[in-house]
Amino acid sequence: MLKDWIAPSILAANFAQLGADVAQVLNDGGDVVHFDVMDNHYVPNLSFGPVICSALREYGIQAPIDVHLMVEPVDDLIEPFSDAGATFISFHPEASRHVDRTIKLIRECGCQPGLALNPSDSLSHLDWTLEEIDLVLLMSVNPGYGGQSFIESTIPKIAEVRKRIDSSGRDIRLEVDGGIKVDNIARIAQSGADVFVAGSSIFGAENYAATIQTMRSEIGSVRTAGS
Ligand code: DX5
Ligand code: ZN
Repeated sequence: MLKDWIAPSILAANFAQLGADVAQVLNDGGDVVHFDVMDNHYVPNLSFGPVICSALREYGIQAPIDVHLMVEPVDDLIEPFSDAGATFISFHPEASRHVDRTIKLIRECGCQPGLALNPSDSLSHLDWTLEEIDLVLLMSVNPGYGGQSFIESTIPKIAEVRKRIDSSGRDIRLEVDGGIKVDNIARIAQSGADVFVAGSSIFGAENYAATIQTMRSEIGSVRTAGS
């Protein structure tokens, strides 16, 4: 398995001092920056776009930036995010009219493509795409807001995606997004995730480093148990 990544979702960061807050969370042990883009169309909320991504790069953030597009349509935003320094770009298949074209566009722009699936979305979206993508983003809440509760039916879904990834033989990341906390992260890891998005549970904590460290040791407890 790939190295486990903790991905703080900056939707829960302090926007009035975003650069410093992101630098802090990375210094405190975050591995990648999870960047939630919401358009008040595909999801009922509005967040931020490419200019904020490039501002983070200009500030000196060097960690991978994991852009999660909750927008419709998708394609017009790919090049701007690539130019802004995105590393991964994930999108929701129902928000793109031509999913394969969108995946190729992300690749051609030099970014790593990911497919994001909502809690009720079928895994059949992966049937003809898994060979082309570098990341599967499983939503464990309905997209649009931070701070929601983890939806338990995601657990068997993670395990199912893990099987598909393993049989593909490719190094595809399995990211889980929404409601991840210190007390459920071990079960999520056990089911087969290797990227753990956490917004409110990290940025809402007094001490980022201690929270991330606890999350990492929770993950470690199931890894060393042989999972
Ligand atoms: C929800 C976003 C998530 C969200 C996670 O639409 O995709 O990334 O910020 O936030 P928490 O960890 O607070 O559930
Ligand atoms: Zn997200």
